[in-house]
Amino acid sequence: MTKQADENRSGAIDPVAFRQFEHSGWQSVAAGYHDYFEQLTRQAIEPLLDALHVEPGKAALDIATGPGYMADALARAGTQVTAIDFSSHMVARARELYSEITFIEADAEQLPFADEQFDLAVSNFGMLHFPRPERAVREAHRVLRNQGRFAFSVWSPPEQALGFKIILDAVFAAGNPDVPIPPGPPFFQFSRSEAAEGLLEQSGFANPATSVVQMTWRLASADAFFDAFYSGTPRTGGLLRAQTAEDLANIRQDVQARLAPYMVRQELQIPMSCLIAWGEKI
Ligand SMILES: C[S@@+](CC[C@H](N)C(=O)[O-])C[C@H]1O[C@@H](n2cnc3c(N)ncnc32)[C@H](O)[C@@H]1O
Repeated sequence: MTKQADENRSGAIDPVAFRQFEHSGWQSVAAGYHDYFEQLTRQAIEPLLDALHVEPGKAALDIATGPGYMADALARAGTQVTAIDFSSHMVARARELYSEITFIEADAEQLPFADEQFDLAVSNFGMLHFPRPERAVREAHRVLRNQGRFAFSVWSPPEQALGFKIILDAVFAAGNPDVPIPPGPPFFQFSRSEAAEGLLEQSGFANPATSVVQMTWRLASADAFFDAFYSGTPRTGGLLRAQTAEDLANIRQDVQARLAPYMVRQELQIPMSCLIAWGEKI
């Protein structure tokens, strides 16, 4: 996360502590995530499918599948899908929703597959949760066959993924950004093309490329927005859950004021762009 991780923490990242924090976070927010984020993260699926050159019959791997939206889209496109997530609660939810798809509990940084098993690999908003994203990209490269394609999505910088800007600005303005939660890699480190393409290249992918996708997060109210972060995300939610009751009430109020310009006919419509990045194994 921007300021919180990048400015207020000078210590090195402990990947084990950060993974544990993320893991227990995702275990507890699986239901909230599904309630609030499906409408949003599904908007990145079509551009990812295009970047992957999806064709029926190909073997596809969805990494950090969450409730399985991308895996579902890949199955509908006729691929043979396997999907992984390290949260057993997410995997249980995905199996409930899409019983015909193979979901496996596994870590993106250590995939339980032999080399060269897949034609396509993808991660929709997984990358910014891994303690060592470069390991996850190398793993994706390892399990792909030659000519295989890998694509991922990450949030744009907060000025274009406004939900993050609003909640983080509110924490800074009305709460305490210095609560003790394990430092992780900078949340927006791959939000710009050069960084995302560099990550792909450094992990062995050829012809890296990116595009920005304009998305809109639709929510019923400011309370729903607050709750989406509070009960649907491990990292931003962790920052909120670590506030005092008084700070939390102030943040909630501050958020309400910041959201007013985005209320359209009694519905919040918040611009949330993301970056899609992809490359080829040759
Ligand atoms: C933001 S959600 C994305 C879910 C889904 N792909 C979507 O498009 O909505 C991030 C997911 O990454 C999973 N995750 C985080 N770190 C992981 C890791 N190291 N290995 C596997 N899954 C991980 C979480 O459990 C969570 O389901």
